Amino acid sequence: MLVAQEAARKAGAMLRSMLGTDLHVRAKDVRTNLVTEADMRAEALIRDIIGKEYPEDAVLGEESGSTGGKGAGRWIVDPLDGTTNYAHGYRCFCVSIAYERDGALSLGCVYDPMADELFHAVRGGGSFCNGAPIRVSECNDLAVAMLVTGFPAHRVDDPRANLLPFGDFLKITRAIRRDGSAALDLCYVACGRFDGFWEPGLHAWDIAAGALIVEEAGGRASDYVGGALALEAGRLLASNGRIHEAMIRVVAPYA
Ligand code: IPD
Ligand code: CA
Ligand code: CA
Repeated sequence: MLVAQEAARKAGAMLRSMLGTDLHVRAKDVRTNLVTEADMRAEALIRDIIGKEYPEDAVLGEESGSTGGKGAGRWIVDPLDGTTNYAHGYRCFCVSIAYERDGALSLGCVYDPMADELFHAVRGGGSFCNGAPIRVSECNDLAVAMLVTGFPAHRVDDPRANLLPFGDFLKITRAIRRDGSAALDLCYVACGRFDGFWEPGLHAWDIAAGALIVEEAGGRASDYVGGALALEAGRLLASNGRIHEAMIRVVAPYA
C-alpha cells in the first residue's frame, strides 16, 4: 500500500503543478476521448515507482496498456481520471491505482491532488480518507438519495446510452450529479457524499480502486443486475448497499 500511496501522491503533485500549462490536449480514438501530456507523464512516473519495487508484477495502465508480469500480481493504473475536466481546468480529477493478485482486488488507492484527499482500502481492512475510517451513507430511500453518473466517451453518437437510465433516476431521486471522474465518484459513495453511482462504458482502470474502496466502506459494487463485478464488463452499479436493489430495478432493463 505504501508504494501505491507514494506513486499516487507523486503523480497527483505532478498533475497539480501542470494544471493550466500547455498540455498538448489531443483526441485519442474518438473526439471526446482526450489525452494530455500530463496523462502520459503521470503514467510514466507511476510505472517507474512500481517497477522499481515490484519488477515482476504486470501493470495495466490506460495510456501504455499491459506490460510485464512474471508474477501473480497486477497493478491497474489510471494516471489521470477526469482528463476532460483537467483539460478544461475543472478541478475534479484524481490518480487511481489498484492491485490485484490472482485475479482478486486486494488494494485500492485514489488521490485527489486539489483537495489533498487520499482514499485507500486494503481487502478486509476497511476504507480510509487521509487515514481516517470512512463509511457509506445510511440513506435507504431513493427519493432522498443523491446519485452520480457519467456518460461514456465512446458513445456520443448514441446519446441514449445513458440518457434513459438518467431520466428514470431523475424522476425518482433527490438529485443526480455528473462530476467527470468515475474513480472519485466511487470514493464519494464510499464516504457518504453520494448514495449511489452507475455508469456504462467504463474500463478496469476507472473502477478497480474505487470499487474496492466502496466495498470496504460497507457498500456494494455489482453489474447492472446485481451480479459480481467484472472489471472488464463496462457497466458498474455501486451504492451504500441499502439502495442497491432499488437501483438494480432501474438499470436492469439496460443491462
Ligand atoms: C473518464 C472519467 C469519466 C467517465 C468516463 C471515463 P478518463 O476517465 O472517469 O468520469 O465518465 O467514462 O472514461 O478518460 O478521464 O480517465
Ligand atoms: Ca478514467
Ligand atoms: Ca485516464
